[in-house]
Amino acid sequence: MNAIDDKDFGTPARESATMVTLEIDGVPVTVPAGTSVMRASAEAGINVPKLCATDSLEAFGSCRVCLVEIEGRRGYPASCTTPVEPGMKVRTQTPKLADIRRGMLELYISDHPLDCLTCPTNGNCELQDVAGLVGLREVRYTKGKSHVDLKKDESNPYFTYDPSKCIVCNRCVRACEETQGTFALTIDGRGFDSRVAAGQNEAFMESECVSCGACVQACPTATLTEKSVIKIGVAEHSAITTCAYCGVGCAFKAEMKGSEVVRMVPYKDGKANHGHSCVKGRFAWGYATHRDRILKPMIRKKITDPWQEVSWEEAIGYAASEFRRIQQQHGRGSVGGITSSRCTNEETYLVQKLVRAAFGNNNVDTCARVCHSPTGYGLKQTLGESAGTQTFDSVMQSDVIMVIGANPAAAHPVFASQMKRRLRQGAKLIVVDPRTTEMVKGAHYRADYHLKLRPGTNVAVIDAIAHVVVTEGLLREDFIRERCDQVSFEQWKTFVAQPENSPEAMEAVTGVPADILRGAARLYATGGNAAIYYGLGVTEHAQGSTMVMGIANLAMATGNVGRLGVGVNPLRGQNNVQGSCDMGSFPHELPGYRHISDSTVRSEFEAHWGVTLDAEPGLRIPNMFEAALDGSFKGLYCQGEDIVQSDPNTQHVAAALSSMECIVVQDIFLNETAKYAHVFLPGSSFLEKDGTFTNAERRISRVRKVMPAKAGYADWEVTQLLANALGYPMNYAHPSEIMAEIAALTPTFRGVTYEKIDRLGSIQWPCNEQAPDGTPIMHVEQFVRGKGRFIITKYVATDEKVTQRFPLILTTGRILSQYNVGAQTRRTENVQWHSEDRLEIHPHDAEERGIREGDWVGIESRSGQTVLRATVTENVQPGVVYTTFHFPESGANVITTDNSDWATNCPEYKVTAVQVMPVTQPSEWQKNYQRFNREQLELAKVDATSA
Ligand code: SF4
Ligand code: SF4
Ligand code: SF4
Ligand code: FES
Repeated sequence: MNAIDDKDFGTPARESATMVTLEIDGVPVTVPAGTSVMRASAEAGINVPKLCATDSLEAFGSCRVCLVEIEGRRGYPASCTTPVEPGMKVRTQTPKLADIRRGMLELYISDHPLDCLTCPTNGNCELQDVAGLVGLREVRYTKGKSHVDLKKDESNPYFTYDPSKCIVCNRCVRACEETQGTFALTIDGRGFDSRVAAGQNEAFMESECVSCGACVQACPTATLTEKSVIKIGVAEHSAITTCAYCGVGCAFKAEMKGSEVVRMVPYKDGKANHGHSCVKGRFAWGYATHRDRILKPMIRKKITDPWQEVSWEEAIGYAASEFRRIQQQHGRGSVGGITSSRCTNEETYLVQKLVRAAFGNNNVDTCARVCHSPTGYGLKQTLGESAGTQTFDSVMQSDVIMVIGANPAAAHPVFASQMKRRLRQGAKLIVVDPRTTEMVKGAHYRADYHLKLRPGTNVAVIDAIAHVVVTEGLLREDFIRERCDQVSFEQWKTFVAQPENSPEAMEAVTGVPADILRGAARLYATGGNAAIYYGLGVTEHAQGSTMVMGIANLAMATGNVGRLGVGVNPLRGQNNVQGSCDMGSFPHELPGYRHISDSTVRSEFEAHWGVTLDAEPGLRIPNMFEAALDGSFKGLYCQGEDIVQSDPNTQHVAAALSSMECIVVQDIFLNETAKYAHVFLPGSSFLEKDGTFTNAERRISRVRKVMPAKAGYADWEVTQLLANALGYPMNYAHPSEIMAEIAALTPTFRGVTYEKIDRLGSIQWPCNEQAPDGTPIMHVEQFVRGKGRFIITKYVATDEKVTQRFPLILTTGRILSQYNVGAQTRRTENVQWHSEDRLEIHPHDAEERGIREGDWVGIESRSGQTVLRATVTENVQPGVVYTTFHFPESGANVITTDNSDWATNCPEYKVTAVQVMPVTQPSEWQKNYQRFNREQLELAKVDATSA
């Protein structure tokens, strides 16, 4: 799909039930009321020249290039700011208009360097195009005052700001405000002296700028330009693909020169991002061609042996023979696999198929175990489907937005921009978070209620909110009567109404003042359309599943499910974590969340796959580790997942892996898990393969190959080779054939084909006979499970208690510029924003311990010790410390424990009792890690300075 030339209609589309017909240059045009004359012209194929207008931003009307004549009106109105009217007769091309436009352009060009031939955006510059369009041939005023000698700002690693080329059209300023919501740019000075300025006339890197690139995309000149374009030149061709970072699933045009990426441009028709992106998707793609990529398969007998580069055939053959040997010696269940939420649906499907059909067991799990497994469990129990209920766009219809345990500004930035837009329009905001994150207060919004709870008390908070709803008569009785199971509702109602669930009684537990909680509960229940968005701050707890069910209970009780603007919305972390769960990555579920013990479902798969399937659920990741330590689990195929860095209690994980006989890691880098591996199979980046990702809104989007696989094979091909070597035939010629099999076997995917995705752009599942084009909003007429089921959610304090020895609670999270274990973003210029994990500590706790900003501090829990530098901040409350986990040497997960959610084993990352003290040297674990890391890099002959 070549989409390099997107049409720009000049002003945004309008929606209206009233249609207006007018005449433009003698052509009748019918458009929705509220449409600009400029857009109406563009829709009729008549292009009015423009500079300050672009269809991603509201019209501004400053450049005066788009003037038109309208019969019966005096003067020359700007077509971008003039709405259409019935019967209007517009002329866009007259000699007078041509003169005025040429005059305007001449003024612009007279203060512009005339270096088109050497300009990096030559051939891709709107100013150049418009000058051509209006027939500008000479510039008379070249001697006056100009800006051509102004200095460039090159501080941002990804783009430059060259003020000499600025035409002060304000597009960048508006993009930063309207699209991104950061408000980092202004027009500084007046008249001739006016220029774009970041912050208080600072360098971009010193300002509030978050490097989303919206301004660069909006700039019609070369003033704001990607450094990659300056270096490589403008693109020759492009393909639409999907970001491989977070669960927002932004669509991008990968603009290419040959097989080299020139830039990634957020795709205007992308349904999840509408042409916007964050710093990661737009700029941080350099990892894909980083020199640390391992491109040759490698094997070794023991992890103390040097790696040997071998052919694909030998590596695959060795892995297969080891798995078969282990199974013969230790039984069929002694091996398993881990699927990747970074890989495509098709790849994930193949790995679980390999485990079930070729290994002959159900020992397959995925990283969702450690993030959103409670979402799957909790939503299935209550609503009947394991996924979020809305589209992202639904937030634009919300009157009240409740964000629980999530920081979308850091982890789901493009959705955060959309949410902030809605907040600026006046929606109310409730934030439930132990920290004061950017969601609590930002440019032109502020939370109406911030429930700053103690970590680990989510369920107490949701029960107290429900208590207010029930006891103050705020229930939506009609909705409950019609849509929900009455028996479970009555039981739940009686339970939450008990006095011990009141905000006053819970205050001592949660730390949230009762009046604030009551206010928030009333607002949620009575403020109109109320939507809940939640993240890992909900799921990664001992009561993660309970909290998810508590959220669903509350939404049902207030009638906030089943239409636009409401719903229960898990913000899924990784690009394809929704998809990896959908594809049957859990040990108890076949694709489409159907239990392995269901003989009807099993027999369908058995018939298709030609094998007999084990009816018993297999091992979850933590059970695999336990089994490894007790000697019954010996072999693991791990695709695109770094369990050593991402799973809790690192030393326990390392001990488990060290006791195994064959670990096969398939990844693009020698990650932390690969340092314990015996076979390394080079992986492929998202640029090197075809497939699909499914985002947090259940949206299935295409991933398109734009360059050959660097190591020779896409990940799905490698799994296929391994299956064949194990004696189980797989012969797919293209991922579309894998999707055809998924569709044939999975009722919620029955109607999905590549052809349909290409036609519609993307599809939200369920997509089948009942919903041929997909399902944007779920549970509309009735809940997927029939009647919505209320579940009693009793608050039980976690076992992880603060003590005299460990008096603080550590909680963990993410930051905008880094991503998850950091394997990708650490290998990009994003390290300029965040080059180490730091420990946030409240000034009071810091002072008590003699800790100052930037000091090295030791953090100790009952699991282990590590050392980080301190950031002293009031963003955390007294008694709580916080860190991120993007750098392996930080060892954040050396500290976290193996406590987990009662239902799903999702680790309790968000609550670890710790002590923090000033120190002068790394922890023992860090010293051991540094030594082990150095040895492993030497064994792989990888340059130790770059990994
Ligand atoms: S990169 Fe984004 S945040 Fe930075 S100035 Fe441009 S629009 Fe604003
Ligand atoms: S930097 Fe670009 S977008 Fe911003 S005012 Fe100047 S020309 Fe317009
Ligand atoms: S918001 Fe997520 S999907 Fe979109 S560009 Fe950023 S990382 Fe990629
Ligand atoms: S494009 Fe209409 S005034 Fe600039």
